[in-house]
Amino acid sequence: MNSFQDQCVIVTGAATGIGEACAIQLAHKGATVVIMDFNRQGAEDVAKKIQAFGGKALVAVTDLNSWEATKSKIDEIADSETGIHALIHSAGGFPNYVNLLDCSIEAWDAVVNSNLRSMFYLLKAVAPHMMKNQYGRFVSVSSMAARSGTNPNPPHYTAAKGGMLALTRQAAKDLGPYGITVNAVAPANVTTPRTNAIRTAERVAHIQKTTPLGRLAEADEIAHAIVFLASLEASYITGITMDVNGGATMI
Ligand SMILES: NC(=O)c1ccc[n+]([C@@H]2O[C@H](COP(=O)([O-])OP(=O)(O)OC[C@H]3O[C@@H](n4cnc5c(N)ncnc54)[C@H](O)[C@@H]3O)[C@@H](O)[C@H]2O)c1
Repeated sequence: MNSFQDQCVIVTGAATGIGEACAIQLAHKGATVVIMDFNRQGAEDVAKKIQAFGGKALVAVTDLNSWEATKSKIDEIADSETGIHALIHSAGGFPNYVNLLDCSIEAWDAVVNSNLRSMFYLLKAVAPHMMKNQYGRFVSVSSMAARSGTNPNPPHYTAAKGGMLALTRQAAKDLGPYGITVNAVAPANVTTPRTNAIRTAERVAHIQKTTPLGRLAEADEIAHAIVFLASLEASYITGITMDVNGGATMI
């Protein structure tokens, strides 16, 4: 099931965290994985991990805040012998917790751009290639922050992740007729190096208390859902948000 043999999947933000977990799972399933990230060292380390078990990995160092850089890299991969079958957008996140009144204009722009504007760039760049092939999978990593206001989250982040869900639905409508599915996953509280560094012990205790499964998620548990939505088998699913949050929200 979920074979990616002869498929090329781009994973943004795959130098670490959830994106890295997706890249490793996809390579185990036979995909050629393109690690698209602006962290060259991290991307090369993940590529080496994949190559060490015989998987196929390429590195595409790209700043997703730049339309020109994003488009030229996507065009280059699409025109190469691998083509592009699926794209997973995991790059994003936020650097620290901040409340509405303390959120600077610069911080707003940085977080909205790296999460949401980058998704628009990626869709705009990859869709024409997928339309030509009459096949494509696009999966974005949003967040529970877009689904529920019960946990404290920074305003730029909740707004960007909410925008990603709306754009997912819109793109699914526009691209469905071309055999392209567009979906989102909304994880909550995953143990990744970035979030471990900014989450206080108090917040971890709150998460454990308010999550029916009583714990945080491992990156692999989120990646399983993302990889499924990127697979051939998810052929009649489009425009959805899959909540992967231990039951923390039940919509
Ligand atoms: N970890 C969590 O608890 C959690 C929960 C919900 C949603 N998410 C979302 O999941 C995704 C991955 O989270 P994570 O914790 O694994 O993040 P992370 O910070 O560990 O990884 C993000 C990656 O994106 C890359 N990146 C950021 N901006 C970029 C840009 N402009 N161009 C190219 N690369 C860029 C970084 O170099 C990094 O490798 C993010 O979108 C995040 O918002 C995470």
